[in-house]
Amino acid sequence: MGSNHLTWHEATITKKDRQRKNQHKSVVLWFTGLSGSGKSTLANAVDNELFKQHYQSYCLDGDNIRHGLNRDLTFRNEDRKENIRRIGEVAKLFVDSGQIVSTAFISPFREDRQLVRNMFEKDEFIEIYVKCPINICEERDPKGLYKKARLGEISDFTGISSPYERPNNPEIVIQTDRLSIDESVSIILSHLKDKTILY
Ligand code: PPS
Repeated sequence: MGSNHLTWHEATITKKDRQRKNQHKSVVLWFTGLSGSGKSTLANAVDNELFKQHYQSYCLDGDNIRHGLNRDLTFRNEDRKENIRRIGEVAKLFVDSGQIVSTAFISPFREDRQLVRNMFEKDEFIEIYVKCPINICEERDPKGLYKKARLGEISDFTGISSPYERPNNPEIVIQTDRLSIDESVSIILSHLKDKTILY
C-alpha cells in the first residue's frame, strides 16, 4: 500500500484562491442511477449549460473513464468499489482546481458513495439520484446491454444480476421518466444558486 516516504506538499495557490478568481465555488455533482437512467445525458447537459454561462466546469463519464484510467477494472463488486474510489480522488482534484465537476457513474453501492462523500468538505459533494424505473431503463436500452444481460451474455449487470442501492438522502432527485432534460438542468442549476455555489 502507501509508501512511508511521502510528504504532503501544500500548494501555494489554494482552492479558495481559485474559487475567488472564478467567482464561484467548486463542487462535485455526483450523478448516480441505473444504466440507461440518463446520468450521462444529464451530467453532460448540466456541464454544457455551466460552460455556456462561463462557469469553470468539467464532466467525467463512466464509459469514458473505463476506457482509460480504469481500464483494468471489471464490474465485480470490489472493482466497482475501486472504480468509484479513483473517480472520487479525480473529482477531488477537479474541485481543488476550482471547477464544478459532474460525474456520471452508476456507483451502485451506498458505502462507496459515502466513502467519496467523506473525501470532500461539507457542501462540496452534491449527490443527484437519477431516478427511473428499471422497466423504462430496459425499454430505452440505448446500448442493448439489458437485452444481453437478460440473455446471460453480460454478468454482474446492475439491476439484473448485481444490486443497485438507491440513495437514502440525496441532495437532489431527478425523475427522468417525468421531466425533460431542460427541466432537470434547471432544477439542478436552481439548487446551485440557492446554495450560493453559483453567483
Ligand atoms: S460502476 O458500477 O459505477 O462501477 O459502473 P460505471 O463505471 O458507471 O460503468 C457503467 C457503464 O458500463 C457499461 N457496463 C455495465 N454497467 C453495469 N453493469 C455491467 N455489468 C456493465 N457492463 C458494462 C454500461 O455502458 C454502463 O454505462 P451507463 O451509462 O450507466 O449505461
